[in-house]
Amino acid sequence: MKIGNEIKEKAEILLKELTLEEKTGMIHGAGLFRTKAVERLGIPALYMSDGPMGVRAEFEDAAWVPAGETQDYVTYLPSNAAIAATWNRELAYECGSVLGEEARGRGKDVILAPGINIKRSPLNGRNFEYMSEDPYLTAEQCVPLIQGIQEHDTAACVKHFAVNSQETQRLWVDTQVDERALREIYLPAFEAAVNRAGSASIMGAYNRLRGEHCCESQLLLNKILRKEWGYEGTVISDWGAVHRTKEAAFSGLDLEMSVTDNFDEYYMARPLKEAVEKGEIPEEAVDEKVRHILWMMLSLHMFDVDKERKTAVDTQRRSGCYNTPAHRDAALRTARESIVLLKNEEERLPLAKEKLKKLLVIGRNGNKIHSNGGGSAEIKALYEISPLMGLMTHLGGNCEIRYVEGYYEEEKQEDGTNWQEDSLKEGGGKERQTAQVSEETARKRQTLLEEAVKYAKEYEQVIFVGGLNHEYDLEGQDRSDMKLPYGQDEVIEAVLEANPDTIIVMAAGSPVEMGRWEKKAKAIVWNWYAGMESGNALAEVLLGETNPSGKLPESFPYTHKDCSAHCVGDFAEEKLLRYREGIYVGYRYYEKQKVPVQYCFGHGLSYTQFAYSGITLEKQENASELRVNVSCTVKNTGKYSGKETVQLYIRDKNDKVDKPIKELKGYEKVELAAGESKKVNFCLSGKEFAYYEESAGAFQIIPGEYEILLGASSQDIRLQASIHIKV
Ligand code: BGC
Repeated sequence: MKIGNEIKEKAEILLKELTLEEKTGMIHGAGLFRTKAVERLGIPALYMSDGPMGVRAEFEDAAWVPAGETQDYVTYLPSNAAIAATWNRELAYECGSVLGEEARGRGKDVILAPGINIKRSPLNGRNFEYMSEDPYLTAEQCVPLIQGIQEHDTAACVKHFAVNSQETQRLWVDTQVDERALREIYLPAFEAAVNRAGSASIMGAYNRLRGEHCCESQLLLNKILRKEWGYEGTVISDWGAVHRTKEAAFSGLDLEMSVTDNFDEYYMARPLKEAVEKGEIPEEAVDEKVRHILWMMLSLHMFDVDKERKTAVDTQRRSGCYNTPAHRDAALRTARESIVLLKNEEERLPLAKEKLKKLLVIGRNGNKIHSNGGGSAEIKALYEISPLMGLMTHLGGNCEIRYVEGYYEEEKQEDGTNWQEDSLKEGGGKERQTAQVSEETARKRQTLLEEAVKYAKEYEQVIFVGGLNHEYDLEGQDRSDMKLPYGQDEVIEAVLEANPDTIIVMAAGSPVEMGRWEKKAKAIVWNWYAGMESGNALAEVLLGETNPSGKLPESFPYTHKDCSAHCVGDFAEEKLLRYREGIYVGYRYYEKQKVPVQYCFGHGLSYTQFAYSGITLEKQENASELRVNVSCTVKNTGKYSGKETVQLYIRDKNDKVDKPIKELKGYEKVELAAGESKKVNFCLSGKEFAYYEESAGAFQIIPGEYEILLGASSQDIRLQASIHIKV
């Protein structure tokens, strides 16, 4: 974010008036989600809230106890993973706009969203809060989302900067990643967030990077963010991610937040003030942080400055609102486009609504509410339509719907404390341990399985809705494998045996193993945590009222053991985490090593078919600029109208540098009525052809042959053409 001179001048006026005590009050948490106001000068406190699926419920100011209010129910948006799966930039913008407007409506200044860490492993507990394994897709979807948030005088706080891809020991784990992977994989989306979208704030991560805590990091905060990228926004720590006063003071961090209520003892509170008074830290270090915060506050129109009286004064700021019909509509339209049709043999889907007289829905996720879980992303949703409710409301009274649980979820043992309060213990996160199944649980599972099988034989139409929930997709905990919990594999196998036409719906934030039943299932639908309208969107897709158009923003491997974070690098280590796989993350690895996957990056079917034709390339190349215009025609050759995402990958045909087989560098989503054709255009610049050359410390283009590939997924390339780049 770049700040204009007028704001800078105004901030300097206030800065000169502030005492050291007042300044330090502005750079650390004085409540769990706020800073201290300076009433004398009219500077308000800065109010923050999670993020990213909506505006989180109110907590007590100094305790992790829900305030128990009735006015903090909000619009529950599809998770960031679901937003990425739409491959639709406009919908990302709309979700951002809802978030920003609702945050303002709830009186917040900063919304702690979006989450854009790269999905390095399917086991990361927070994958549902993140977008993709691919830096290009993450950048393209997060930029409009941030712009949407900030339309409403609310600051986005893009998180967690950086290379934060596991929850295990997240406070201490030291990530070792090579420079090329850092620049090509882990940083581009953050750079786009701050430079293209102008994110007003950014959250430093819990983990260390090359030995330094991210919130005290010279490399990340000073060298890369402030100097290279010229960032003038505010850097906020993750809650409890600061460990030392001096290091934090001399880094680009501006605001220390934490989870404990000893606010005056935070590293950037009294200890920092005393260090300045003793002359150990120059006051200018504090001023620089306050300056950034004042710049952000002024950009958000939180106040203006009376130059004569040298105080903050009221100004016109956009007011927000929440729970509007328009917000719910945006949630619904996004949910629709996020659903991924993984498999549809024999045109099992869509179901013919008029003929559906008896329907059996099996599975806990059919009847489950997910909004209130997951960690800091939990939402007090105004409502959440479950799959069962969605189906019931769409089918009305003409269809008899029976629901059975199918599998048994053990009761969660609550110990009365809030996890966030405890989150600085045990290194902040752990790997999930697989618990022994008790005899009682085994018995309950068997009873439910038998019931499901009995009815599956009787009902012509059966839908199984399973997957994960926020006991597994969860902050502070990684999964230990990709297996479906609660004995679901057995249930799905038995149900498919009893009724081979059963449709399988998976609701989850990260991929699961499907090997035991995937071949037997004719239709599989992937549903994420898709917000308050999730059940309606799902019902529309199953009944053909919406033609699915979601595409996977990440590869679905057969097992986590196939993933490079596990078979090449380290994962869930407690101390040193070596990213030995380098740039080979997600499809970049599977393709290079020819590792087959269950479903590939970019995969997603439609009820209609699309034909691609007529690729054209047009190059303009001179000493200072490279531009390649690519186009093709897409025709809807099927019988339903639908949307297709045309994906553009670039393959470097030179063998001078080790590179992935291909990389995503463009995508466009088009809507086509049955029989309709449209031209799809892409414009590539030099950036898209470049790789990071470590010896030069810069991105470079190798002259030579490149292939431009256009396709419906990373493995379904329909058109290709070569181009020679001179540079
Ligand atoms: C999470 C952040 C979140 C913060 C405030 C931390 O535990 O890592 O993503 O914004 O808490 O709730």
